Amino acid sequence: MKVTLSVIKADIGGYVGHSGMHPKLEEVANEKLREAQSQGLLIDYFVTRVGDDLQLIMTHTRGENSQEIHELAWNTFLACTEEAKRLKLYGAGQDLLSDSFSGNVKGMGPGVAEMEIEERPSEPVIVFMADKTSPGAWNLILYRIFADPFNTAGLVIDPKMHDGFRFEVLDVFENKVVYLDTPEETYDLLALIGSIEHYIVKAVYKKNGDIAAVSSTTKLSLIAGKYVGKDDPVLIVRAQSGFPAVGEVLEAFTRPPIVPGFMRGSHFGPLMPVPFHYSNTTRFDGPPRVIAAGFQLADGRLVGPRDLFDDPAFDRAREHANFVSDYLRRMGPFEPHRLGEKEMEYTTLPSVLKKLEDRFKKLEE
Ligand code: F6R
Ligand code: MG
Ligand code: MG
Repeated sequence: MKVTLSVIKADIGGYVGHSGMHPKLEEVANEKLREAQSQGLLIDYFVTRVGDDLQLIMTHTRGENSQEIHELAWNTFLACTEEAKRLKLYGAGQDLLSDSFSGNVKGMGPGVAEMEIEERPSEPVIVFMADKTSPGAWNLILYRIFADPFNTAGLVIDPKMHDGFRFEVLDVFENKVVYLDTPEETYDLLALIGSIEHYIVKAVYKKNGDIAAVSSTTKLSLIAGKYVGKDDPVLIVRAQSGFPAVGEVLEAFTRPPIVPGFMRGSHFGPLMPVPFHYSNTTRFDGPPRVIAAGFQLADGRLVGPRDLFDDPAFDRAREHANFVSDYLRRMGPFEPHRLGEKEMEYTTLPSVLKKLEDRFKKLEE
């Protein structure tokens, strides 16, 4: 049976500030998706949030980029925005960049990760959701999961994984895509994906073409031309039986990568893996964080979630992330805690610098 798993997310209003989400918004989203399920549009759904971002996790049989599913998500976000406006929540509707829906939510603000799969006899999937960072945050994580034998033992031991994987990489500035195979082209892959604001891993496949992972790649700042909130990303990963085991996938998060986001989307900070109940971004609007919802698919039904970072085995990673936050925070407005100049062009900094323009005098030769 072919099933599509669609994860569509948006920040439609924060509580308090940009730190979390009011439960009423999740209630409204649940109502909307329950209605869609009873009409037969969805097989199943799960509504959740990380920080101030609302995630609609949905299963159906309409394939990727289905107009009906995207419209359902859009209308759900609109209904939540109305509620957010009533409660005067912060930045109500901030990620809905257009006034009207035009067939697909891509490019309109919400983030999307979708995969259509032939459901295996047992289909474990993990949905990762991050707040206060951007899509390139997954680059190092996906490299570790699918290409680093020091992370993923199966790449060496399991004959079903020994061939390696294929990475689909987007150039978000040029709107181009390239496919690179590992282990053969590992160094070429790394030459690109180390630039996490430029090249973003969109998807990973087995060499036979089966989808293994897909991420959301929206760059809100490139759509809007200015800072409109970070593109807090989501990622879907299939696990076990020829894909990395659940434990190999999660292992990649034990050494928190330093990612862009944090306060005002303008600082680097560690990506901290947390259980659901720790998803509020309170310190310096961060640190950036990620939650992991594990499901078993059963004929499209979402059996779960299991809160996969709710495990003391990740305490050390969290401690480490807090240590790194302390260290970086000491640098205040200096690089490399603050992002580089090119990325700052999409923030409010240029308007501050503008008033200094006339004060610069040419140096005499
Ligand atoms: C980060 C984020 C927040 C805001 C910050 C200032 O993605 O959204 O860190 O940038 O709280 O928000 P404003 O300018 O709305 O007061
Ligand atoms: Mg926000
Ligand atoms: Mg957010």
